[in-house]
Amino acid sequence: MAAPRPTPRPLDTPEQARTLDRYYMAGLVCMALLIVAFPLYKLGEPARRERTLEATRTENITLGATLFAQHCAACHGDDARGGRGFPTLGAKEFLTSVSDKQLQWLISGGIPGSAMVAYDLDLGGPFTAQEITRLVTYLRSLEEGAPSVPGWYRGEAAPPRAVVALDTAAPATSDTTASPPGGVPGQPADTQALRAVATAETERVYASRCAACHGATAEGSAIGPALRPLSAALRSNPDSTYAIIARGVAGTAMMPFAKERGGQLDATTIRALVAWLQESGVTSP
Ligand code: HEC
Ligand code: HEC
Repeated sequence: MAAPRPTPRPLDTPEQARTLDRYYMAGLVCMALLIVAFPLYKLGEPARRERTLEATRTENITLGATLFAQHCAACHGDDARGGRGFPTLGAKEFLTSVSDKQLQWLISGGIPGSAMVAYDLDLGGPFTAQEITRLVTYLRSLEEGAPSVPGWYRGEAAPPRAVVALDTAAPATSDTTASPPGGVPGQPADTQALRAVATAETERVYASRCAACHGATAEGSAIGPALRPLSAALRSNPDSTYAIIARGVAGTAMMPFAKERGGQLDATTIRALVAWLQESGVTSP
């Protein structure tokens, strides 16, 4: 025979029921807090991600602008404003008609049969995929407020942007801080230093304006002839060298660089380039 089960103690005294209710309430409040807090946290997540992406984008634009100034501006113009017979990449007509993917292809693969060579490392160019992404991001950043240039493909010039290009400001400052090659008379010690500054500046001008066609070390390329050393005829003739750089060679990719002919270089800078090329002609075997 089983022992009789003890009668359960009544749980439902009003006292206990109230305690239990309080626990339920507390549990419910905690759950409600969690239910609200989690989506709130998730709501903040895109904003956090957005901020990180925005920081990366800003960095890419800055680095892309530098790459563009060094490698593309010689043909496509400062700030992609065109103006020398090469497509005006900063034009609204162009930027609104290409996707990022297409831009990336155009830059990595180039346009066969034209001066637009492939820039992808895998295709013999100088750039990694990341650098090409930076260039694409930079070009895309120009789209907002891009000027309309119907003749963009022919390289019609776009009006200058409100933002001053870093590149155009540089030669002006260097004109005041460094004298042209030759230095300050009567200060032989400083002349060396001034010369070094002037040379570095000239090399910078060469790298951004001429290297795209004449090669990084002026060794020549498929587009432009070698300038180091200069041809014998030009080496002994600084005036002709000056004239070629200032006026360009009609009917060729060698465009005029003098300010008064629509270029960006002042006479001092062109003279420095001539001296630099001539010197390098003498020192090269
Ligand atoms: C030596 C001159 C030269 C240099 C340097 C150069 N390009 Fe070009 N680029 C051209 C020419 C010419 C075209 C047009 C080719 C054609 O359509 O026949 C072109 C076209 C383009 C196009 C396509 C525009 C279109 O016609 O649809 C893009 C994008 C472009 N270049 C980007 C760049 C970038 C970015 C750089 C620097 C990494 C660069 N280019 C450097 C000459 C150059
Ligand atoms: C878009 C391409 C391009 C750019 C940029 C360019 N050149 Fe040229 N350059 C050429 C071509 C092409 C020639 C050959 C022209 C010809 O057929 O006579 C040339 C010729 C020259 C010559 C004559 C060489 C010789 O032996 O006859 C000099 C000097 C010269 N360039 C200097 C410069 C300097 C300095 C810069 C930069 C300020 C520059 N070039 C930028 C394409 C270019």
